[in-house]
Amino acid sequence: MMNIYFITAFPEILRIILSESMFRKASENGLISYHVWDLRDFTKDKHRQIDDTPYGGGAGMVLKPEPFFRAYDKLKEIIGKDSFKVICPSPQGDVFNHQMTLELAKESDLIFFCGHYKGIDERVINNLVTDEISIGDYVLTGGELSSLVIADAVIRHVPGVLNTYESAETDSFADEMLEGPIYTHPREYRTLKVPDVLLSGNHAKIDEWRYEQRLKRTKERRKELLKSKTGNDFGGKDG
Ligand code: ADE
Repeated sequence: MMNIYFITAFPEILRIILSESMFRKASENGLISYHVWDLRDFTKDKHRQIDDTPYGGGAGMVLKPEPFFRAYDKLKEIIGKDSFKVICPSPQGDVFNHQMTLELAKESDLIFFCGHYKGIDERVINNLVTDEISIGDYVLTGGELSSLVIADAVIRHVPGVLNTYESAETDSFADEMLEGPIYTHPREYRTLKVPDVLLSGNHAKIDEWRYEQRLKRTKERRKELLKSKTGNDFGGKDG
């Protein structure tokens, strides 16, 4: 069982998403347990203040260090270990990728410190956070959605979460190729047809066609993925 903790100023954002679809099934099946903690519960003042103005001036508010340090102390107590992954999603982090999902899926506990406003006091980042992760070169308002993006991509690799593990293994990026086209019923819709090969029943032929489609799409859209796999520009048979 993997435990995922989210420390956030906006717990409802997380609760809504975690109670649907794959997130929900993973917890119902006893594979993942979510713990959404409200950052304000770790304040000690009457106003439950979690942010303040930046030293040195400037626009925006900064999340204060104390609530994160207190939440961390509680995590240490509960987890019973001295070291665990504390992820802070932020545009300043390493850019998230497939390899990172596999590494994080091996952990028994994952902690997300969700930033908001201008960000989190650097003392939290330097002393408590183990991984700063960016989900792309753009800026979101807070770390809630990016935590969910990371958690979604990670738990797909926890055995049992997907119906068949095969569906994670054939994902785009699992072998550094994009996925090819897929079709379902009906066979023909408004004159639009499913490729004949998929209806042929010849599985060797179908596998070959699927591989070719993946290769073609990857070449057209993300050539650099093939480069990293094969050392040449194209990969595959016609290298
Ligand atoms: N929070 C704000 N922007 C972000 C980004 N690009 N990636 C991860 N977390 C973020």
